[in-house]
Amino acid sequence: MAFSFRGRTISKVAVIGSGQIGPDIALHFVKVLHGFDVYVTVVDIATDALEKGKAKLFKKVDKGGQTGAFKPNDVEGMKSHVIFTSDYNELKGADLVVEAATEDLPLKKRIFRQIEELVSPEAILTSNSSHLEPERIFDELKIKGRSLCTHYFFPAERNPAIEIIPGKDTDSKTTDFMMRFYEAIGKIPIKVGSRYGYAVDPVFEGLLLACVQCVDAGLGDTKQVDYVASKALGLNVGPFTAHNLTGGNPITAHGLSEMHDSLNGWFRVPERLKKLLESKSDWEVPGRGEKIEVSPEKEKAISEELMGAYFAIVCDMLDAEIITTSDFDLLISVALDMKPPFSFMNSVGVKKAFELVETFAKKYPPMPVSKKLKEQADSGKPWEILDVLFEKKDDIGVITIRRPKALNAVNSKVFSELNGYCDIIKNDPTIKAAVITGFGNKAFVAGADIKEMAGLKEPAQGEHFARLGQIASAELEKLGKPIVAALNGFALGGGCELAMCCTARVAPKGLKFFAGQPEVNLGLIPGMGGTQRLPRLVGFERAAEMIRTARPISSAQALEYGLINEEVGGDVLERAIVLARDIAAGKVKPKLIEMGPLPNVPDKLPDVDLGHLSKAIDALAVQAILEGGKMTLDDGLKNEAHIFGQCWTKEDNRIGLKNFVEKGAKSKAEFVHR
Ligand code: CAA
Repeated sequence: MAFSFRGRTISKVAVIGSGQIGPDIALHFVKVLHGFDVYVTVVDIATDALEKGKAKLFKKVDKGGQTGAFKPNDVEGMKSHVIFTSDYNELKGADLVVEAATEDLPLKKRIFRQIEELVSPEAILTSNSSHLEPERIFDELKIKGRSLCTHYFFPAERNPAIEIIPGKDTDSKTTDFMMRFYEAIGKIPIKVGSRYGYAVDPVFEGLLLACVQCVDAGLGDTKQVDYVASKALGLNVGPFTAHNLTGGNPITAHGLSEMHDSLNGWFRVPERLKKLLESKSDWEVPGRGEKIEVSPEKEKAISEELMGAYFAIVCDMLDAEIITTSDFDLLISVALDMKPPFSFMNSVGVKKAFELVETFAKKYPPMPVSKKLKEQADSGKPWEILDVLFEKKDDIGVITIRRPKALNAVNSKVFSELNGYCDIIKNDPTIKAAVITGFGNKAFVAGADIKEMAGLKEPAQGEHFARLGQIASAELEKLGKPIVAALNGFALGGGCELAMCCTARVAPKGLKFFAGQPEVNLGLIPGMGGTQRLPRLVGFERAAEMIRTARPISSAQALEYGLINEEVGGDVLERAIVLARDIAAGKVKPKLIEMGPLPNVPDKLPDVDLGHLSKAIDALAVQAILEGGKMTLDDGLKNEAHIFGQCWTKEDNRIGLKNFVEKGAKSKAEFVHR
């Protein structure tokens, strides 16, 4: 067996370097690929590093076994699929090589000269670096098109963010494959243009410099600045603490010095950092739970200075056109778990952000003032940050919902972005058909955004929210061109409802937990058409059972019920594109949903075991299903939205939504049937 994906077969991954990050990278690969019998080989010439790396990886696997994160079989499977060796010949047969040696250009180049002699011409070669441009690392390779840089984040086995940096010689097919491959194995890959430090490190390292400048300017000591920085930038720990914890001071010093020459003259190694490194000490930082006092004036001054630095650094990268606002926000929020920069600027006002940058740049020349930031501030509009992406793949428009932190849950912002893309698809005669999918390997869409719904106060607001979702999803149905749902994972609640508006649906083979209408768990009924389209697709009895009990079904059941058209062995997106094209060409004619009233609407639905679920909400669900069946689809939807709003007249609605927000999806709400 092997991991086959998009025409490539991966049976062996090699990681070079058993130092700080190599074993963690290897752990991620072995965790996600051992089930496909893929072997991961870690190569290092230092045997003590190999021993340490192996001990570290095995310890993490054992810990995962003890906490229940990994099943006993997986613990054994992972350990038996990872090999630590000092023999470079073991690289032979590797389909993917990730070099994770020290951040040293001559060393990396030497390693790649050696690798190229050993692996096949088809193997993909990557260098995990935090700064170095691919053009510099790979310039001596004979075949440059199969090489690119990656940048993993701490801890590499768990932090899903990864920067993907193609060089000028990287074949776009290699980049596309690596983007999709990392997504398929659970990472959040973000493509970044080739520039020293890529996108994240000028932020991480630049903010340390900005903090030192605050100390030098007498705004506070390192403890105070660290404390204010964590508060102002939404960090778990401040930059000084983060550098102590990750041992990052030497690499930041090197990075800052290189950025001085490669990015702009503001970046430099501050004297305090030089002294700290000479004395081999750590920054003085707040102890756990230590209360730090800072006067309100100083707190404001430090916060504004750090915001000025943060916004200046990220906007300079927009000017350099190495990343987009949407990608940067997602990357920073996942990689560094801090306030995403462009949403942050929108929340303080782009004009105010521009003023902070201007003040900072005046105080600390030659920090540039970004042209794009000035234009944005002059426009009076907020930055555009998209949760839905659109790409044209030849004659097919591909819509991707990308909110990985909420499993792609759909909210009012997503609805409005979807509407915009539907207009593009309708109006572009070169687009023959479309596909809609979700980002990642776990969820298509895990429903309407429960956190947004929990903020609604009254029936009219509930009804309005449902109508927004219904109208946005019905746009897919009314495109006038076929649209196929590539259901790459869970299709729950609003996710299942969006999918049902498509011309056809495909899903991965063998998903046990796949589709469903779990709204009643939340003290809600489906509000984006579930009570109307599900009976029209799978029949009253099955639809009512799914809606009233919230029980999800597998992909095999979904196929049997007629909820999906195909279970797919390979990449669902690729299959959906082919199917969309075939439907557009009239080669395939899927059965469409009945738009008129349904014949044989029962007077009553069969009894189901409601268990702990609310009888009051169940009555509303039954009402929406039975009444809607006798109406046209359009009228049934309006009726459903009205009844969805009526959920807000029930105590169980507050109980269900509050339970999810406070205790999470696994906790059962204690309904009172009112
Ligand atoms: N809305 C908002 N956030 C959601 C979400 C949703 N529908 N579904 C999941 N998330 C969030 C979770 O809150 C969590 O966020 P934090 O990390 O900040 O806590 C994150 O996504 C990951 O979720 P879990 O930790 O729960 O992941 P899991 O793998 O353990 O479980 C799941 C995945 C089974 C999908 C579970 O999250 C779940 O049951 N979610 C709710 C599904 C649901 O009820 N959907 C229907 C929504 S109502 C609706 O759609 C109404 C309508 O018709 C208009």
